[in-house]
Amino acid sequence: MDKLQIAGGIALEGEVRVSGAKNATLPILAGALLAEGPVTIGNVPHLQDVTTTIELLGRMGVTVTLDEHMRIEVDASTIRECFAPYDLVKTMRASILVLGPLLARFGHADVSLPGGCAIGARPVNIHVAGLQALGAAIHIEGGYIRARAERLRGTRLVLDTVTVTGTENLMMAATLAEGTTVIENAAREPEVVDLALFLNRMGAKISGAGTDRIAIEGVRQLRGVHYDVLPDRIEGGTYLVAGAITAGRVRIKNTRPEHLEAVIMKLREAGAQVGCGDSWVEVDMRGRRPRAIDVRTAPYPAFPTDMQAQFAALDAVADGVGTVVETIFENRFMHMLEMRRMGAEIRLEGNTAIIHGVQRLTAAPVMATDLRASASLVLAGLVAEGQTEIERIYHIDRGYETIEEKLAQLGARIRRVPH
Ligand code: EPU
Repeated sequence: MDKLQIAGGIALEGEVRVSGAKNATLPILAGALLAEGPVTIGNVPHLQDVTTTIELLGRMGVTVTLDEHMRIEVDASTIRECFAPYDLVKTMRASILVLGPLLARFGHADVSLPGGCAIGARPVNIHVAGLQALGAAIHIEGGYIRARAERLRGTRLVLDTVTVTGTENLMMAATLAEGTTVIENAAREPEVVDLALFLNRMGAKISGAGTDRIAIEGVRQLRGVHYDVLPDRIEGGTYLVAGAITAGRVRIKNTRPEHLEAVIMKLREAGAQVGCGDSWVEVDMRGRRPRAIDVRTAPYPAFPTDMQAQFAALDAVADGVGTVVETIFENRFMHMLEMRRMGAEIRLEGNTAIIHGVQRLTAAPVMATDLRASASLVLAGLVAEGQTEIERIYHIDRGYETIEEKLAQLGARIRRVPH
């Protein structure tokens, strides 16, 4: 397993191009199962989770081809079985996203039930209950969700909790249902909107995506199209924090500033100057130490749980005391314990972390535990005194395209060493 070695202490400076969004690519790849003809997808990030999804589709018999520009063509006409096996689902929970499309298009799906995960229990009861309300017969048997339906029937769904992949799964299933489906308390994340735009281009009739009420008028069939995935707001936000934490100046390109509002607000509160254009954001913290800030995670458009760990790293070296409250996942504080090993002063009380900023962190061997936790350790390593070594970086490769190259481009002393 590879490791990352980071020699801290360099103020980052320069520009970095944001890749396509992981959390839009995964549902869009699953959504391609709904089309009668081949679908091509552009701006796809080169990530382990994308590779896993391609493998999942391939095992079902779907023809997936990839060109050198990471454009993926998905042709579901060759599908042999509607089956997502445990060995893939256990490595990537987002595999659950094939459930809705398979059921809607082919009338049956057997998808392994994801288990717990490093950041929380993450049940999929809302996905299952929603599909049942749409008329599916579902049995949980031998660790698998076994779903059957002749043709789904549109209905009104009120989601118990705001769930991103739950909203996406149900929205995809409803595209081919008979009649109209309304999803109340829907997730408003930009990735949900991107999926809806993709499905509409295929011929779906979805309105209201981006609000908490999405209406889907079912159609008979969907066609193959080309679609470019939106930029990754979490990857972009992570590089902005990298600029701020190192007291540097970093510009992210190929981004949508409007998707980063909550993050930009917090960077400004921390004392950074932030400028935006149509497709770029620049953070400037030169010559200053960040001020401690408080964050509380909540569904979009509020502060994202996927940026919580990165801001915890910022607070760890900030002036003052900051609190981080995690309201989405019950166990998303593993990075706090690792950062303590680098000298961070963090106290945990339930879902709240109280962080007393220190003047400097010191390098230590640390372990990545999940994707965003790993990103926060990289950020801490960028400012720590000495050489930080991060193990288990396969977590980072799930969601950050060539992170060491992008950071090196900004001046960081970082390298990947094979283990
Ligand atoms: N929940 C339920 N029942 C369900 C579904 C969700 O109780 O059936 C709960 C969850 O346990 C959690 C809350 O609802 O407490 C919200 O979870 P959500 O379903 O929104 O999370 P998700 O769809 O599994 C996506 C992203 C995550 C991101 C969350 C929250 C993808 C592929 N994953 O997960 O991304 O943290 O939304 O924004 O879109 C990441 O990229 O590092 C990552 C974990």
